[in-house]
Amino acid sequence: MSSAIVAPADVWVLAREHPMGPRKGTRALVGTLEKIYGPRFACWHTDELLLGVRRGRLTLQTLGGADIPPPRVVLVRQAPGSMAQHRELTLLRHLEHLGAVLINPLPAHQLCGNKMWQLQELASAGLPVPDSLSYATAPLSGVVRSPRVTAPCVAKPVNGRNGTEVELLSDPGRLRAVADRPAPDVPLMFQEYVAASHGRDLRVIVVDGEPVAAKIRSSRDGALASNLTRGASAELCLGRYPEGQALAVRAARTLGATIAGVDLLFTADGGHTICEVNAVPGWLPTMTTVIPAITAYVDRVLA
Ligand SMILES: Nc1ncnc2c1ncn2[C@@H]1O[C@H](COP(=O)(O)OP(=O)(O)O)[C@@H](O)[C@H]1O
Ligand SMILES: [Mg+2]
Repeated sequence: MSSAIVAPADVWVLAREHPMGPRKGTRALVGTLEKIYGPRFACWHTDELLLGVRRGRLTLQTLGGADIPPPRVVLVRQAPGSMAQHRELTLLRHLEHLGAVLINPLPAHQLCGNKMWQLQELASAGLPVPDSLSYATAPLSGVVRSPRVTAPCVAKPVNGRNGTEVELLSDPGRLRAVADRPAPDVPLMFQEYVAASHGRDLRVIVVDGEPVAAKIRSSRDGALASNLTRGASAELCLGRYPEGQALAVRAARTLGATIAGVDLLFTADGGHTICEVNAVPGWLPTMTTVIPAITAYVDRVLA
């Protein structure tokens, strides 16, 4: 086997090249880290790495067989929600075992990858979340007929993202019709419809326990989901909802996320309830506080 060694880098961004390449925010972060750390920084993609064990020691190599010295800090910018147990998460475990500090740590990625896992943690910590129901292997037809599942409610797969599969089941007919669909690959969650937040949410970016950016997202054409990928508009609002920001910080801490994009729903009493926590959040180019907060945090970890 080749004995070539790749130049060591303390700080990595770990991104996924395919199918779409890194998002805008990740590209800007890479540019800033290159400026700050020079050759001490490297951007690796999950499809470029081999992980192994040789003579009892964990190894990391390029496909060409060169050894890669382990980094000290890894900013994980793998596309959110797409991390598979036997692929990307295995790589993250490997990097943690090699001594790297992951931003976010592995458990945060695992928890954030399943909306029910998140609610289990958040509710157990006493944080406000909408009433929700999911299942393990129960047939969908039986779940939908349960007296505990009533319309109106919101249905979403436990691993959905970008608001593509979030659906308002506004009446019993629509709810019953779900039973006739083919069973989805992952369970659905049936959630209390937070009507006061219809088409609107508060997204707070938290970095190392501080709210560093916030925006109100508003959907277009009366749609329920206020994700920007679905055409919603955004208004920056850091400082306008101190109670919501504090809640976002507690949610991120509860899930062990040192970087988080927390989606909060507006409640009828003027407060907030937690919709979900994202472990690989994007941010708008106008959210100029996010990248400096991340690089300052990386500095603290290295120190
Ligand atoms: N229970 C709910 N009540 C009202 N609106 C909701 C509810 N759940 C989700 N939404 C809306 O749908 C959007 C997407 O839902 P979310 O759970 O964050 O899934 P995704 O992972 O697809 O972003 C939220 O940002 C919010 O605008
Ligand atoms: Mg969301």
